[in-house]
Amino acid sequence: MCFSNIVNFDINGCNYKLPVVYGTYCYEKAINISQLRENTGFITFDPGFKNTGITKSSISFIDGEKGELLYRGYPIEQIINKCSFIETSYLLLNGELPNTGQLKSFSKRIEEFNSISKEIYKIFDKIPAFYHPMGILSSLTCILTAFTDSSTIQEEKDIYFHLLAKLPILAALTYRKKVGLPIHYVDVEKTTNNNNNLDYNYTYNLLKMFFSVPKKSYQINPVIPDALEKLLILHADHEQNCSTTTVRLLSSVHANLLSSVSAGISALWGRLHGGANQAVIEMLENILNSGGNIKKWIEKAKDKKDPFRLMGFGHRIYKNFDPRAKIVKKVAENVIQKLGISDPILELAKELEEIVLKEPYFMEKKLYPNIDFYSGIIYQAMGIPKDMFTVMFALGRLPGWMAHWKEMRLNREPIGRPRQIYIGYKKRNIH
Ligand code: ACO
Repeated sequence: MCFSNIVNFDINGCNYKLPVVYGTYCYEKAINISQLRENTGFITFDPGFKNTGITKSSISFIDGEKGELLYRGYPIEQIINKCSFIETSYLLLNGELPNTGQLKSFSKRIEEFNSISKEIYKIFDKIPAFYHPMGILSSLTCILTAFTDSSTIQEEKDIYFHLLAKLPILAALTYRKKVGLPIHYVDVEKTTNNNNNLDYNYTYNLLKMFFSVPKKSYQINPVIPDALEKLLILHADHEQNCSTTTVRLLSSVHANLLSSVSAGISALWGRLHGGANQAVIEMLENILNSGGNIKKWIEKAKDKKDPFRLMGFGHRIYKNFDPRAKIVKKVAENVIQKLGISDPILELAKELEEIVLKEPYFMEKKLYPNIDFYSGIIYQAMGIPKDMFTVMFALGRLPGWMAHWKEMRLNREPIGRPRQIYIGYKKRNIH
């Protein structure tokens, strides 16, 4: 049952009525203030958009109080067990899961774009290996715009296949340069796998592009592509987060998809957003290297005068467990066990989590581990360097960004242009 469609409120003795907008679930409700300034002269003030719904969307849904995440209505726990990353990408982009034929042709179309031009290699060659991989990925994604024209993109929807194919290549090139592996574009371009499961090939190929060595057959423990597949799915979408909102804002002004995704990658880089996965491992290493005194670090996080925060804890929407974090924790334990690694960082993370969850400060503020808390442990076990963790996040988030970019266009949303309360000088003259 839904409630009133109108709210009444008074401003300075005048009564106003504003329409209420409901979501699929009636407790998702918003006061539509689009006429507020026109009718009352007031705007709303909501730094960080904590109480602002900026759009109607049907891609994913988070119930932060229950700790639930749905992609197009399907719970993340079901998606992770029954779908591949490519099926999930199809679902996010098209609204429904693909049938066998649709999945096959979707995967084939991605494969068709599985190369990048020599010009991009020439540009890539000039980028210093020490530059941060997220900066490289964002720049090269934007540069792709210059080499993507009507001769490469015949149909509008090709751009999605183009990007799903090329982002992993750019990431792999960045990794190879960073660790000193040979970059021969034919090696990277021609990545095929005998595995008949085409959609699963995507993740296998991704790993092969990263780690293959010329003249050696590429072998990998199956636990690794399986874990990466799960990580990509878990990162695939998360409604109006900072990077997705960035992509949507660019879409609102009709910026092209490649430059919009490039901006999304830059937003994701921030340490309070996707960059937290790198920050978590650095924090855990710091704790370990400084003697492992967890209590001391928790006290630092609680101290208002200390800027330190426990990285990997807290979320704007989840006021309960992040359901993705629960899955990532299990995947991390499985990877470490199957690879036979003894990882003091995983042990420390588990101990820290246990203590934090009993701490009144974190309980009162409803701060739980988020997706980034355990993901870095898995990337590290795979051999991904710390400053590339967020690149892996970006590869997973790509279908979500594209689905939101597309939804903005289809819904013909207005340009995203907030207002402000100006607190600078009043008009003055230069003397
Ligand atoms: N450690 C210590 N205190 C914290 C933490 C933390 N990790 N997170 C929030 N708090 C405290 C804040 O100090 C604040 O306290 P106050 O009300 O006494 O001032 C309160 O909890 C609310 O914090 P806000 O920053 O206002 O909450 P917001 O919703 O704006 O921020 C965020 C969410 C940015 C994720 C925050 O929890 C944080 O900084 N976490 C650490 C970074 C991190 O893990 N980011 C990844 C998020 S998931 C993702 O983007 C993929």
